[in-house]
Amino acid sequence: MAQTRLESEAATVAYARKLAKQIRPGQVIVLSGELGAGKSVFARALMRALGVTDEALPSPTFALIQTYDGRDCQIAHMDWYRLDDTGEIEMLGVRDYFEAPWITIIEWPERAPSILPHDAIHIEIKTDPEDFELRLLSRS
Ligand SMILES: Nc1ncnc2c1ncn2[C@@H]1O[C@H](COP(=O)(O)OP(=O)(O)OP(=O)(O)O)[C@@H](O)[C@H]1O
Ligand SMILES: [Mg+2]
Repeated sequence: MAQTRLESEAATVAYARKLAKQIRPGQVIVLSGELGAGKSVFARALMRALGVTDEALPSPTFALIQTYDGRDCQIAHMDWYRLDDTGEIEMLGVRDYFEAPWITIIEWPERAPSILPHDAIHIEIKTDPEDFELRLLSRS
């Protein structure tokens, strides 16, 4: 799998902007990577590029799901970190967001991999022990 080198936060933002051009309502984008990898940085850049103009884009760590109006779409930003398992996540009604007009962005999707749609776009972000600002991104 090809990896993209993101040498700075700005490079991560630029990648997210490019991806935004390929995304349509009904798509789910899942973001994997350890704590502090850059999932939320990526999610916020994606949301901005999809037309979200809200001043604040709070992390959904506590609210679990934050929703926004985008350009010709609605956006659900989720963080499953604090959730335990598939049952708990399903009870939140997350599947309702897996179709148009929603574009859904999920951090910590590994909490419930079995409920993710088969055509979800998987983005994995890896840090580099040698370089504080470098991230290696793979998409599948
Ligand atoms: N190339 C890069 N791309 C993205 N973020 C970077 C990069 N270099 C440094 N950073 C920094 O890494 C941090 C990423 O934080 P972020 O909240 O996005 O992580 P996260 O993956 O969402 O973590 P969590 O699992 O805790 O939600 C930010 O402080 C950001 O400035
Ligand atoms: Mg985060």
